[in-house]
Amino acid sequence: MQLSQITNEKIIKSKKRVQNHGEVFTPKRIVNNMLDLPKIQEACLNITSTFLEPAAGEGVFLVEVLKRKLKIVKEKYGGDLTRFENYSLLSLSTLYGIELLEDNAQKCVMNMYQVFYDNYCAIALEHGKNVKSNVLDSAKLIISKNIAQGNFLTKLSASGNPIVFSEWKPLNLRNNSKTIKVQRTEYTLEDILLGRKKESGEQLPTSERIEQLDLFELYGIEGFTISKKNHLKYIPVKITDVYREEMEEVNG
Ligand SMILES: C[S@@+](CC[C@H](N)C(=O)[O-])C[C@H]1O[C@@H](n2cnc3c(N)ncnc32)[C@H](O)[C@@H]1O
Repeated sequence: MQLSQITNEKIIKSKKRVQNHGEVFTPKRIVNNMLDLPKIQEACLNITSTFLEPAAGEGVFLVEVLKRKLKIVKEKYGGDLTRFENYSLLSLSTLYGIELLEDNAQKCVMNMYQVFYDNYCAIALEHGKNVKSNVLDSAKLIISKNIAQGNFLTKLSASGNPIVFSEWKPLNLRNNSKTIKVQRTEYTLEDILLGRKKESGEQLPTSERIEQLDLFELYGIEGFTISKKNHLKYIPVKITDVYREEMEEVNG
């Protein structure tokens, strides 16, 4: 009997998709076995370690890493709702993915959001508080920027423009600060692979980023208006407010 039959997991959608795109999803048990390998397990327990899944499918690896990171966040900061909000968003901001097919990319986005939402609701409930819309909006913004529909091999998004990712660099992590400020900086996938450095806060030219899909909107959930402004840079902001995409004009 195959593993997928035992666990009732659907690992193949169609023969055609397997032939055309090599689409065979990894069963959760194998994902967990792989993530339990010593170095990887260690990275999953580190809130700030970064993961990029170049063929993310529906996000089975990213979702599992997120669950593991959120478990650590809960253990360390669950006693304080503000800290949980800040550090859970920080852990979310470290997970990146690329997926060729639109339906898989949408599912990946939604699966990640669901895990974040469920964990946040549970902790808020424990504290007898409501979830905050700015935290949820910031989670949506981060996921929508970190999961790209595109081709890892050509480094182009579905629209034919370079795949763009945002770095969310924490600025004040010392002393377990209660709230976290981040500096957002945009990089193309090529920049990342070539190790190119960028000015803090750099926003890439509109043409390179405008058409990157807002996968939340495709899914019928209110998303974000992608900024069309140029000659602007991102300013340091609280991680719970990144959804505002605050920028300032660049001098000179
Ligand atoms: C073998 S599946 C694995 C999916 C996921 N990582 C998992 O373990 O369940 C490969 C995935 O890569 C996607 N894919 C194929 N070629 C790709 C490419 N050039 N760039 C990005 N994704 C690609 C397919 O659509 C498919 O979802």
